[in-house]
Amino acid sequence: MTKAHDSLVTGQFGPRANAYVESAVHARGEDLAALEAVVANAKPTRALDLGSGGGHVAYLMARHAGKVAAVDLSAEMLTAVAQTAQARGLKNIEIHRASVERLPFADASFDFVASRYSAHHWHDFEGGLREARRVAKKGAPVIFLDVFAPGVALLDTHLQSVELLRDTSHVRNYTLAEWSAAMVRAGLSLQGVRTWRLDLEFESWIARMRTPEVFVAAIRALQNGASEDVRAHFAVKPDGSFTIDTMMIEAVAG
Ligand SMILES: C[S@@+](CC[C@H](N)C(=O)[O-])C[C@H]1O[C@@H](n2cnc3c(N)ncnc32)[C@H](O)[C@@H]1O
Repeated sequence: MTKAHDSLVTGQFGPRANAYVESAVHARGEDLAALEAVVANAKPTRALDLGSGGGHVAYLMARHAGKVAAVDLSAEMLTAVAQTAQARGLKNIEIHRASVERLPFADASFDFVASRYSAHHWHDFEGGLREARRVAKKGAPVIFLDVFAPGVALLDTHLQSVELLRDTSHVRNYTLAEWSAAMVRAGLSLQGVRTWRLDLEFESWIARMRTPEVFVAAIRALQNGASEDVRAHFAVKPDGSFTIDTMMIEAVAG
């Protein structure tokens, strides 16, 4: 079951590695700027990026850290990260093919841990959080950035539905309450939360994941049939573009 889900993730992301390196949604953003400010202040010796994807967190951390470890399930993603780091003259990024739920690092190996737009794919969300805590030194910043679900069932169901139709490796966008409770259970001490709204342009959103036409049609049908409450919250536009909620939760390893 677990292996099958991880295979689904690599099957979805591997062939799309370059699209994630080039994606403007992933390469830029207020959340990245906020994270960079935290890393620049912390100046870690050894930083970890969990679910590195196109590597945008790894690249920004590499400018402020001694060394950065980029972890991902997808070999193709990691190859793209290594090539992009080399092209940018970033010599301090090492790549590790691994599951976040079973990290190949000793306890307390890192003095900074970050993960962006990945946890909603993890087959074991709480297990991944525990691993993040385990490999962080006591007191080290552990920071998660992700899409979050509104704490209203009507909106939550719509979000999870369109996300799953677009990408069959989607597991769940958690609410802020779910994030906070799970992080505390994992032994992380919460420091603060920031939220933003992120516009997703429909055509590039489905092109990045090469969503099959039948699922694209289903997403459009769901959007067109949605209530005014749903359409208003997600600011659904006539072409299917919409707006989601994103967050950065800062914690330290307890
Ligand atoms: C949307 S991409 C990440 C984007 C990237 N962090 C950024 O900021 O642009 C999600 C990544 O998480 C990885 N991933 C998903 N589940 C994982 C797991 N359990 N362990 C390791 N990597 C995982 C996928 O392979 C994919 O490359």
